Amino acid sequence: MVGSRVQLAKAGREYKACCPFHTEKTASFWVSPEKQFYHCFGCGAHGTALRFLMEYDHMAFPEAVEELASRLGLPVPHEGGGGAPMPQDASLYELMARVAQFYAETLKGDKRAQRYLAERGLTTEIMQRFGIGYAPDAWNALLKRFGAGERDRQALGELGLIIERDRAPAREGERHYDRFRDRIMFPIRDSRGRVIAFGGRVIDRGEPKYLNSPETALFHKGRELYGLHETRLARSSLKRLLVVEGYMDVVRLHQAGIAYAVATLGTATTPEHLTRIFRLVREVVFAFDGDRAGRGAAWRALQHALPDAREGREIHFLFLPEGHDPDSLVGAQGREAFEKRLDSALPLSEYLVRELSAQCDIAHADGRARFAEAARPLVYKVPEGVYRELLLARVAEVVGLAPQRLQALWAGGSPPAQAAQAPARPRRGAGRGSLVRQAVVRLIRFPATAGSVTDAERAGIDDCSEAGADVLRALLDDLRERPLKISAQVLERWAAKPGGEHLGRLLEREEVLDDEAAAAVELRAVLVKLAHSVLERRLDALIAKQAATGELSEAELFEFQRLMSKKADRSR
Ligand code: CTP
Ligand code: MN
Repeated sequence: MVGSRVQLAKAGREYKACCPFHTEKTASFWVSPEKQFYHCFGCGAHGTALRFLMEYDHMAFPEAVEELASRLGLPVPHEGGGGAPMPQDASLYELMARVAQFYAETLKGDKRAQRYLAERGLTTEIMQRFGIGYAPDAWNALLKRFGAGERDRQALGELGLIIERDRAPAREGERHYDRFRDRIMFPIRDSRGRVIAFGGRVIDRGEPKYLNSPETALFHKGRELYGLHETRLARSSLKRLLVVEGYMDVVRLHQAGIAYAVATLGTATTPEHLTRIFRLVREVVFAFDGDRAGRGAAWRALQHALPDAREGREIHFLFLPEGHDPDSLVGAQGREAFEKRLDSALPLSEYLVRELSAQCDIAHADGRARFAEAARPLVYKVPEGVYRELLLARVAEVVGLAPQRLQALWAGGSPPAQAAQAPARPRRGAGRGSLVRQAVVRLIRFPATAGSVTDAERAGIDDCSEAGADVLRALLDDLRERPLKISAQVLERWAAKPGGEHLGRLLEREEVLDDEAAAAVELRAVLVKLAHSVLERRLDALIAKQAATGELSEAELFEFQRLMSKKADRSR
């Protein structure tokens, strides 16, 4: 694998090369394919194949594992079963690369496209870094170049690069035409740097301004972030990511030296985006145009980000002056001024309070009541923990109540309404409250459901550290060992135990449960979800450690791989 990145010369069983991590003339970089290990006698860089990918390609740990696994021909554990690319996709990737190359070459020969990009302030260097190209002003340039045979045309079609005509063509061979014509082409690359789609901008005016590749086997819009690969290449250590809206914004920001900008591809930020982002960094700034559309997009981003908010993570919102987008602003004011703005971007909690208090007149009591009501579903989207407590405290401060009092009022009212517009990610099953609470409520309402829980499901929550998990474990173990049939018996047995005083109150509040069979199914589903979040947390911790220290012990690597394959099993 190292061989595909560095020129290696065979030396016995090992290979030697000039070290890719420091500049040198004589080869002191040494690779052992047998041991899957490399070492540089010059600068001391060394590590496993995994480490090499992370260092040299700036891959995040999961991607490095994926890359390595695919190179070794092992099954690739994949996030959320989102569909890892199949081997037969290899030729599609290869075709995509050749098409991108073709567009880039076409740009070199087209004065008008070059002039446009120069007027937009792009340097040749940045165009090369992003592989920017130009699709010729013709109906069949791509077809002629890459679509000679039926199979070639089928591949181009699968990649969304050509379109089939509705009506029968006048002549054979004119059944298709190029999707992208007379457009500036932005290749969209995946995190491994492979071109998977394009965004094409009209030169000057025309509709639509941007034309994007459709969803294909290689391209899933809601998952990709434009510029992420380039960000990785540019930054040896990533601390924060800046999320903007447009292709031009990303390219221009990188050119200005803000080489940690990425863009969602004409969609709102999805939970998948956020998962990716927080795998890489702890800090994210969302930048939005100061206009109405920008504010709407920001509010949607906030709602999507709440389930990912937690201590140790920073989520900020930056609003640009009216009439500006990041591209124009960094062009007008430069990097330093832009980064100053980034440093003073609004924390999520402040943005939430500011936006809601603008909607409700908090100078008056009824306005503050409305504010509290509007804040409630948002606060409950944040996972239980320190961050939620702090957000609650901030909201309570605005309302003018003690946090405990506000929470008590909230708990007494009707169940939290779904937050306006964008739905939360479907993280909760039936019932309400945290997962632990959902499980406990079912156990006390129908104690016999404990009997349906398998040993594996019980073991899955061993390391769960959510609030109340200890009570859940104790209750579950108790009821599996000494089964009970009705709630009253549980309450009686538990009256004197730690946590017992809460159980009765929990039960009073829960009026929706009346189907024991359903409760058993739900209980087990909740346990599985809890087990999953334990696993995810541990993975997150390992990844964070890897990101912070650059190294994991052998035992931790082993654990990581074990967790990844467990995760893969789950998604099967
Ligand atoms: N977009 C899109 N399809 C469109 C318009 C926009 O997919 N018809 C997406 C593109 O990713 C675009 C982003 O939304 O980059 C932001 O759109 P807009 O602000 O209109 O464009 P800019 O990125 O500012 O592009 P430019 O500066 O070239 O006008
Ligand atoms: Mn713009």
